Amino acid sequence: MPNPTLSITDNRTGRKYELPIENGAIRAVDLRQIKVEPSDFGLLSYDPAFLNTASCRSRITFIDGDRGILRYRGYPIEQLAEKSSYLEVSYLIINGELPNAAQFEQWNHDITHHTFLHENLKSFMQGFRYDAHPMGILVSTVAALSTFYLESKQVHDAAIRRLNMTRLIAKLPTIAAWSYRNALGLPYVYPDDELSFVGNLLAMMKKMAERKYVPTPVLERALDVLFILHVDHEQNCSTSTMRSVGSSFADPFVSVAAAAAALYGPLHGGANEEVLRMLREIGSVDKVPAFVKSVKDGESGRLMGFGHRVYKSYDPRAKVIQKMADEVFSVTGTNPLLKIALELERIALEDDYFIKRKLYPNVDFYSGLIYQSLGFPVEMFPVLFAIPRVSGWLAQWEEMLEDKEQKIARPRQLYLGEDERDFVAIEKRAPTAKKS
Ligand code: CMC
Repeated sequence: MPNPTLSITDNRTGRKYELPIENGAIRAVDLRQIKVEPSDFGLLSYDPAFLNTASCRSRITFIDGDRGILRYRGYPIEQLAEKSSYLEVSYLIINGELPNAAQFEQWNHDITHHTFLHENLKSFMQGFRYDAHPMGILVSTVAALSTFYLESKQVHDAAIRRLNMTRLIAKLPTIAAWSYRNALGLPYVYPDDELSFVGNLLAMMKKMAERKYVPTPVLERALDVLFILHVDHEQNCSTSTMRSVGSSFADPFVSVAAAAAALYGPLHGGANEEVLRMLREIGSVDKVPAFVKSVKDGESGRLMGFGHRVYKSYDPRAKVIQKMADEVFSVTGTNPLLKIALELERIALEDDYFIKRKLYPNVDFYSGLIYQSLGFPVEMFPVLFAIPRVSGWLAQWEEMLEDKEQKIARPRQLYLGEDERDFVAIEKRAPTAKKS
């Protein structure tokens, strides 16, 4: 059909409207012409949590939730996980195309040369208590970067924008590693330019007295693959936060800090931390059936690492991780929680409650087990999620800034509160129950 439309009849007035359909959507603002009285505001669409609202057009990430498909810039996630590296994928997600050899060399050089932090930031980070959650440190330190790069406010200057995007991608591992060492009371390790992006992160986290830290290749590659899987996931909670905060033209450092704060929540990037807590709480394979029952009865909260707003089949990222797990465990030894996880998955996938609701393992169900086997404490899991996701946030942020249709994010509401009433002096007020 050349110009598809949607016909609407307003049964309040009997009037008919013809709304154009473009890319499988109507424009919500077209509903505004639907009025009873000319002075009416016009019809709104009500969509709490944006279940059915596209807030942008994007060319970055494609997800087909029913078929379990995830593609970055058209490339299937399985191929990228097998053949690419995080840094290459980071270039792809931001620039739209894979780099050639010269472009990649330049990108690698640029990232490597921006990994250092200003020494004042080091003192800033040392101010946190020993038990500070590393994600809280990351959110605050990334926001603090904004005070070091004042020109970053010039978000419409493409060259300045790109420089600060490079800084963010490069400095996140340093902040992450130092937030980890803060908890251990260990001296911070400076970046090592001779190591890979991931090797350098591992060195900054794990190096002790040895002269040069040498990462184990299988583990270095495993972390690189986990980073590829976490680069972008279209308009999720943290990405839409990035776009929303960035739409006021806030600088990229504070915008990324806001996105990282959104990621911190247990329903988003904090989920893999919760998966491990849950597996530990279950304790042994024989307790799995009782635990699944308690989830269904609403007594144990949700089955963490299960379910997804978009995927209504197996999360393709979880499949890649599952395949990789054996390689990692061949070096680290099997994670004792794996047996509980496999049993939990088996029972849940055969259970009507989960089948009916199309709840399958998501990326976080297995990523925590790998992170733990790589020797990271659970508090570092959301931080390890944030390191690669910053590339996705920045690609989406730049796309938003260059999109002529975008304006400051400002949803509408349906006001259901009190109508106008007169102010009452304090001595004349009767006690009232707290309103919800
Ligand atoms: N365990 C038990 N029941 C669940 C779960 C779960 N993990 N997830 C959803 N449900 C139920 C939910 O109670 C609801 O049941 P009912 O229709 O009877 O009320 C139904 O399934 C639909 O759930 P929903 O809350 O409408 O789904 P949503 O799209 O709003 O939530 C989600 C998506 C990921 C927040 C949710 O599935 C969840 O809380 N999962 C556990 C947390 C988790 O693993 N998060 C990581 C997501 S993947 C990484 C990322 O991208 O951040």
